Amino acid sequence: MNIPNHIAIILDGNGRWAKKKNLPRAMGHKAGCEALEKTVENCARLGVKYLTVYGFSTENWKRSKEEVSALMQLFRFYMKRLLKIASENNVRVKMIGDKSKFDKDIIEGVDKLVETTKNNTGLTFVFAINYGARDEITRAVRDLLNDYKSGKVSDIENVDESFFEKYLDTYPDPDPDLLIRTSGELRISNYLLWQIAYSEIYVTDVLWPDFDMAELENAITAYNKRERRFGGR
Ligand code: IPE
Ligand code: IPE
Ligand code: MG
Repeated sequence: MNIPNHIAIILDGNGRWAKKKNLPRAMGHKAGCEALEKTVENCARLGVKYLTVYGFSTENWKRSKEEVSALMQLFRFYMKRLLKIASENNVRVKMIGDKSKFDKDIIEGVDKLVETTKNNTGLTFVFAINYGARDEITRAVRDLLNDYKSGKVSDIENVDESFFEKYLDTYPDPDPDLLIRTSGELRISNYLLWQIAYSEIYVTDVLWPDFDMAELENAITAYNKRERRFGGR
């Protein structure tokens, strides 16, 4: 089986999973964190090189104060667990998104996780938190304009796609080959808009907390049946 080099995931359905079980939404998010831990391990085991997971969007701040604070508590807790999982599985952790909006201790936790795992050579796990593709592209444009203003960039004709990409959070990592969305929604929800230009999309009705190795293999099997095209014949 051809294992995709880069898998991106929109994890969705934690709330619906909790509702089905008559549990509070926060319990759905906790179960979602456990599914995420397993998925990191499973991808490492399968030899996936990059896994980019959407954990919290720039729009998710609109949720209730209770839900946002439950999610922040889970970040705090799982960041520590991730340190252990990453070390055990030779996983390098990266973050994309605007982390400046988080509390100081979360920012420090993220920095520590990234720093401690930076020389690991197995799976690169990219966690997208306070991430929105429109925000990413807007920040990139702002950085580029600042570089123009300071004279670091002078030739506007040089600003082509590969030049612009250097300003994105995901640089220099490759684009996703396979994009998985759980819980059946046929939306991109402001995820990696630039990077998924030619990714294969796989949507499953499975709710994120139920996503396991068998589901990951189903997604990879479906990917193997695709004929990838990039606009040529
Ligand atoms: C995904 O689950 C987790 C986050 C967006 C943080 P949801 O919380 O969106 O679950 P549903 O969509 O309400 O089921
Ligand atoms: C997408 O899920 C964001 C994350 C997975 C972090 P949402 O549940 O927030 O997206 P919508 O509202 O269904 O589009
Ligand atoms: Mg949702």
